[in-house]
Amino acid sequence: MTNEKYYITTPIYYVNDVPHIGHAYTTLAADVLARYQRLQKKEVFFLTGSDEHGQKVEQAAKKRGISPKSHADELVSGFKALWRQLNISNDDFIRTTEDRHTQTVTTILNRLWEKKEIYADTYTGWYCLPDERFWTEKEIVDGLCPDCGRAVEALSEQNYFFKMGQYRDRLREHILNHPAFIQPESRRNEVLGFLEKPLGDLCISRPIHRLSWGIPLPFDHDYVCYVWLDALVNYISAPGYCLPDSDFSKCWPANLHLVGKDILTTHAVYWMTTLMALNLPLPHTLFAHGWWTIDGGKMSKSRGNVVNPGALIETYGRDAFRYFLLRQVPFGQDGDFSENILRQRINSDLANDLGNLLSRTLTMLERYSEACTPKQIVGSTEEDQELKMTTEALYDKVDHLISDLAFQKVLVEIWQVVRSANRYIEKGAPWLLAKDPGKKERLQTVLYYTTEAIRIISLFITPFMPDAAKEMSRQLGLPEQSSDLSLKEKSRWGHLPPGLSVSKGVALFPRIKTSENKENTEATPSIKKKKQQTALPIKPLITIDDFAKLDLRVGIVKTAKKIEGAKKLLLLQVDIGTEQRQVVAGIAKKYAPEDLLGKQVILIVNLQAATIMGQASEGMLLAAGGKEVLGVASFSETIPAGKPVR
Ligand code: MSP
Repeated sequence: MTNEKYYITTPIYYVNDVPHIGHAYTTLAADVLARYQRLQKKEVFFLTGSDEHGQKVEQAAKKRGISPKSHADELVSGFKALWRQLNISNDDFIRTTEDRHTQTVTTILNRLWEKKEIYADTYTGWYCLPDERFWTEKEIVDGLCPDCGRAVEALSEQNYFFKMGQYRDRLREHILNHPAFIQPESRRNEVLGFLEKPLGDLCISRPIHRLSWGIPLPFDHDYVCYVWLDALVNYISAPGYCLPDSDFSKCWPANLHLVGKDILTTHAVYWMTTLMALNLPLPHTLFAHGWWTIDGGKMSKSRGNVVNPGALIETYGRDAFRYFLLRQVPFGQDGDFSENILRQRINSDLANDLGNLLSRTLTMLERYSEACTPKQIVGSTEEDQELKMTTEALYDKVDHLISDLAFQKVLVEIWQVVRSANRYIEKGAPWLLAKDPGKKERLQTVLYYTTEAIRIISLFITPFMPDAAKEMSRQLGLPEQSSDLSLKEKSRWGHLPPGLSVSKGVALFPRIKTSENKENTEATPSIKKKKQQTALPIKPLITIDDFAKLDLRVGIVKTAKKIEGAKKLLLLQVDIGTEQRQVVAGIAKKYAPEDLLGKQVILIVNLQAATIMGQASEGMLLAAGGKEVLGVASFSETIPAGKPVR
């Protein structure tokens, strides 16, 4: 360890619905940075969590007829399951309903109240229900919320206010004097623009008769704390602000708050001024990234176009998904999601460039180097020098680009080396050298240079694709990378130990069938024949009209839980676009409830309802297998809930 700490956070996500690709994006970016800083031997504290109070969650729970806490408990497990599935290495997960958090919020509210940073006043304003915030007359645009564009309603009530306005000049000064404070530049300018206008005070309470699901104000129990203030405090409650013997002073200030552009103002203004009022230092950087859109538009449940990360990971693998999200769009800008481009990237960058480099090198080591890593040889050709130089130059480039959060450029730089190594092999043509006994030394040189380049490539892809990097090391026979050396040291040319037994494994990234290459990858006739021989007898013919009687729909699993006393059954709530259906499914031996959250399924929606183990079942999932369920039917594409299946 360098003893240098690195504290990184993601937003804490609302548990009003299951996670989508946008949530996965921020958390993934934070994970890559956390993993990179760990490679740099920094003491990393990577925090994510869930935002569980407020109207959105209260309303979502009400709709389901359960308490907000039970609702949050269920939904939070979906987020946690997705983070496991995506290989997220967070050090802590904070829930705003935990004691450690509610106690900190209460202490902070008391402190601010005692310091007279909070006062009571009657407020008349325009309230945006979905955003849970007031706007002034001047701020609203044609009767709509200036932030989300939805209708606002007039409200007048007694409330509590934080004296935020008094910090405007100090905040502007700080932003101007610290260029790295708000990034990227465009977002910094946005905040500076916002601060050109007078800054009002912030309403930090909600009357309990309007919203009871929140942390009570310690100085007036008729009110709960505004959900945003409650939520922002997670960044200091998790590392133990106010708690004796905590690591807080070691962690704070955070190095990086990573957020989407939608929550820039709440972080840049509300949070930073709260920290000022608490006399706490400000975080080093707040970075607001862009949004994933679908066909250029917003992804939303009402439009039925929400991209489900769990289904994509299941289809393409988590490393491929991780690579695509950060390779496709420059971090900070918006990008349109396309599953087809995801497939193309897997085939070109991962299967062809990287996978092929590893597999051809291992084949050559097996053939020409007794399946061992070659001994170090100093090459003398121009090609040798070039490959060594481009590989050695990677560290400085990557380190600089990572500090700018330029993930896309980092991956482009790494792939320059991957492609250089592939070109080097083409030029060196080891298969020809192997035919000439006088070229043994040259053959070993080419093999050494290629293998050493791959070792270094695997180090740099570790934060992005941890599984693939591990598998590359395993196939190259490399021992666990020493934990004493930093990335800079490990990535120096010449660290490849000679004589390690290499073992070629399965393809790192199998090619994905796309519409262009489908014919070539179709199963061979012999396999088809074998399948037919073992097939079950085919049932009597039905007519197309018989089939048309079935109403099959795409559904998304919203919640899943075990049914007491039934080993095989799970109780699911499935969203079919227009409504939610409760389904009892005999799939508990194949799936844990959390595996199913957010999963796309195919549901027969016009099957007569039945009662199974005392539970109403309003549909049936399609699944493969006989007595033993092998898997539920789904699509590799993300299809909106409710779409018919024919
Ligand atoms: N609970 C608040 C955050 C409180 S932080 C103290 C919240 N939650 S949220 O569930 O709505 O998540 C918002 C965040 O999710 C965005 O800031 C961004 O990080 C991520 N994304 C949500 N949709 C997104 C896209 N379409 N594209 C990229 N990321 C987006 O706001």
